[in-house]
Amino acid sequence: MQEIIKLISDTQNKYLLSKEKDYIKNNSQFFTPDDIAYKLVSTLDLSQFKNNTNISILEPSAGCGMLILPLISRIKNELPNVTTITLDAYEYDSEVAYILRKNIKLIKRYFNKIIIKTRVINKNFIIHNSNKWSKKSSGKYDIVISNPPYKKINQTSIESTIMKEIVYGQPNIYTLFIAMSLKLLNHNGICAILSPRNYLTGEYSNLLRKFIFNNYSIIHIHSFKRGLLFPSVNQEVVITTYMNRKNVENVNISFNDDVSFKTSFNSILLDNVSFSVGIPKSINDINTLKNFSLLSHSLYDLGFNINVGPIVQFRNSDDLNKNTFNKNFAPLLIAPDIQHNNKIIYWERENKRKTHNKSISITNKHLIKNFNYLLLRKVSAKNDDSLIVCSVYRNSFFDSPLLGLDNNLLYFSKLNNKSLTLYECYGLYCYINSKQFLSLYSIINGTHTINVTDFSKIKFPSHDQLITLGKCILNENSYTRETCTHLVATHLYLIV
Ligand SMILES: C[S@@+](CC[C@H](N)C(=O)[O-])C[C@H]1O[C@@H](n2cnc3c(N)ncnc32)[C@H](O)[C@@H]1O
Repeated sequence: MQEIIKLISDTQNKYLLSKEKDYIKNNSQFFTPDDIAYKLVSTLDLSQFKNNTNISILEPSAGCGMLILPLISRIKNELPNVTTITLDAYEYDSEVAYILRKNIKLIKRYFNKIIIKTRVINKNFIIHNSNKWSKKSSGKYDIVISNPPYKKINQTSIESTIMKEIVYGQPNIYTLFIAMSLKLLNHNGICAILSPRNYLTGEYSNLLRKFIFNNYSIIHIHSFKRGLLFPSVNQEVVITTYMNRKNVENVNISFNDDVSFKTSFNSILLDNVSFSVGIPKSINDINTLKNFSLLSHSLYDLGFNINVGPIVQFRNSDDLNKNTFNKNFAPLLIAPDIQHNNKIIYWERENKRKTHNKSISITNKHLIKNFNYLLLRKVSAKNDDSLIVCSVYRNSFFDSPLLGLDNNLLYFSKLNNKSLTLYECYGLYCYINSKQFLSLYSIINGTHTINVTDFSKIKFPSHDQLITLGKCILNENSYTRETCTHLVATHLYLIV
């Protein structure tokens, strides 16, 4: 077995070496490493097929066939009654399809006791199945295994038009692959997908999630240590496994090779309007979700808002100034100004890069009022293991009526266009800078980028509780994460 895995791995590597990086990226040819292929296949519960003599399999974007081998191996070992496998393997790229055909021949030779009827379909998977999408029931396959292509496509592309019911904004093709793969499952059929995790919470995937969770059940979520897979896909990747049956209550959760447990679907559902699903990595994470679900306020109930800083520097270059502010230039705060422990280092910050401007013309139309705000870095530095870096901005910090905020910052403000009070700012700071909040946020979002829309899924304490947190932290006069964590545990009963 090791030999044939190595042969397939070698064909993948040889192909990748023969192509330019851009070609690989543009065609989304991020092939699955063999150990991950085994992991993906291990999330499929084959026991329901134990009386089958036939099994039908779909690989919608087969590449060199890496996912096919471990699945056939499991079928052979665990389903002795199966004598015939039908396999449809789509691959759009002719050169890859040629390699795929050769690799499938190797696989057939190796498992020669089972009849494997194969079709390598050198076509676009979505377009080729367009007529099945609109049908009520299009089941054809018992098992789907997939690591779909990952690429933004146009809203007016043929693929988006075919699947318009689940398209909102500019779609990523992997989301269409997920929906079409599920559509092609037989009743009780199962489907394991390796993909970015974004579709489980992103606001542009609301329609996709409605389609999925109104018709199918998620039965396994496997996540990896950050940064392990596909570094050029700047997103955390997960394996999600589904069954074509409604209301399966339990979901298996696994993380790396270390953790695995069962939980209920409801325990990971962040809200049942958008069907956003969190990705826990431990039982502790399930407790975190449960604890936070006891809070009952949204940011907007509290009269607060969160926005992206309005200054996109390259679009406003004529108005920028590298010197500190004066009567014609308002101060400009950028992400590196915001440091841990509630520090803003505008005055000390050196002008190391061109983008590190310090002020912006007071005539610029994107300036905001010099109110109190809570500022949050949008992107955490790669070497910074802490995703949340925030600081209270007091309006007395600058003697200026207006303020510029770079679009790499997020800012909390009031919906009614008045200034946040300092207690509100410090209460929000204490809550958001706590370890409890950090744990919650990592379950919701697996990237280094904070998303404004994630805050609509997060519950907040009451206004009174926030004010208490604000007063207490000011009283302590310590702004470390430890102090915030301690205060959140004491006043909100949220334990880390
Ligand atoms: C991310 S790779 C994964 C390959 C394989 N499933 C694996 O796990 O190694 C996606 C593959 O899909 C192919 N592909 C891209 N768009 C496609 C389409 N519309 N229909 C079928 N295949 C497509 C690419 O050429 C690439 O080989």
